[in-house]
Amino acid sequence: MTDKPRILTGDTPSGNLHLGHWVGSIENRVALQSDYDCFFLIANMHAFTKRAERVGEIQRYTLDMVKDWLAAGIDPDRCTLVLQSEVPAITELSWYFAMLLPFNRVMRNPTLKSELEQDDVGDVYSFGFPLYTVGQCADILAFRPDLVPVGEDQVAHIEMTREVARRFNTVYCGVDSHTEDKDFVKAGGLFPIPQVKVGRVGRLVGIDGKAKMSKSLNNAIYLTDSPKQIKKKIGQIYTGRQSLDEPGDTSNTLFEYVRTFIADEARVRELEDKYAKGDNIGDGHIKAEIADEINTMLEPMRARRAELEGEAGDRKVIDLLKQHARKANAVTEETFYLAKQAMGIDYGRRELKPGQ
Ligand code: TRP
Repeated sequence: MTDKPRILTGDTPSGNLHLGHWVGSIENRVALQSDYDCFFLIANMHAFTKRAERVGEIQRYTLDMVKDWLAAGIDPDRCTLVLQSEVPAITELSWYFAMLLPFNRVMRNPTLKSELEQDDVGDVYSFGFPLYTVGQCADILAFRPDLVPVGEDQVAHIEMTREVARRFNTVYCGVDSHTEDKDFVKAGGLFPIPQVKVGRVGRLVGIDGKAKMSKSLNNAIYLTDSPKQIKKKIGQIYTGRQSLDEPGDTSNTLFEYVRTFIADEARVRELEDKYAKGDNIGDGHIKAEIADEINTMLEPMRARRAELEGEAGDRKVIDLLKQHARKANAVTEETFYLAKQAMGIDYGRRELKPGQ
């Protein structure tokens, strides 16, 4: 046990992690893991929303995502990895939370709405699809965290989580609904109202200039890309500029990348200045500089990732997930028991023996 404030956040395993994940949230997690008691969730049950018939994919993505996390610097000695499907209290809490949210409120969640409008979901999405958003409230509240670091697209889910926490505290713990968010626990509530923290770039543009880097838009640079692939992808960024002395627009995609990935502030200002003036600086030169910086950043990740390759790496990850499931369940079982007491359904305590 520790008295550090607690973090819960996570990702759905849906392919390799890309630079959007890194600047949106993972970088934050790596930085925060020494000052917070961190729980990092692999939302493998949420992967079923889109690929329930393709469990092989879910298995593969789950292991690959954990490998990407560890490679990125998430330290299993300083955090708890939470494999969602091994933590039953999350699913159980989801049931009760689903009763505290009006159906139409869930369907108005803007992140869910835009997902339901995407072509690959269409009008044939499953009954369970919208439920993942309620599940996410339970992912979070099962750990009673203080802080949830996420990318911008997740903020709507955290807002819903905060609503559920307030509702539960008022309905079942007798807390006055006008209580300030920071005072709910003091006033006898079970759930703290967690704060959200968005990364330094909440939404990274794709290399094609589209609003968001994403696997499905095929515009992503992956943490596992080789130096050559990265050079090539950065090379594809389109600016439409014709010559070295043509004044450039520093609000374009190229400069989003300059500001996001070139660490030296003075150099960023210098590039912006020269580019805006058309002072003999070509796109190609700037692209090479961005690619170099990204490669330097990814180099240590590549080294760590290499140690986890193949079946031996798979086994290491699976062992780690099993061990960590015990730590995760110790926390969530306590929360769930307290929740059952609050709801008047505490017919005895159970003991889980996960990871065997
Ligand atoms: N929905 C998140 C995503 O797709 C993943 C996720 C599931 C999550 N449960 C969470 C994120 C709880 C933060 C907290 O990336």
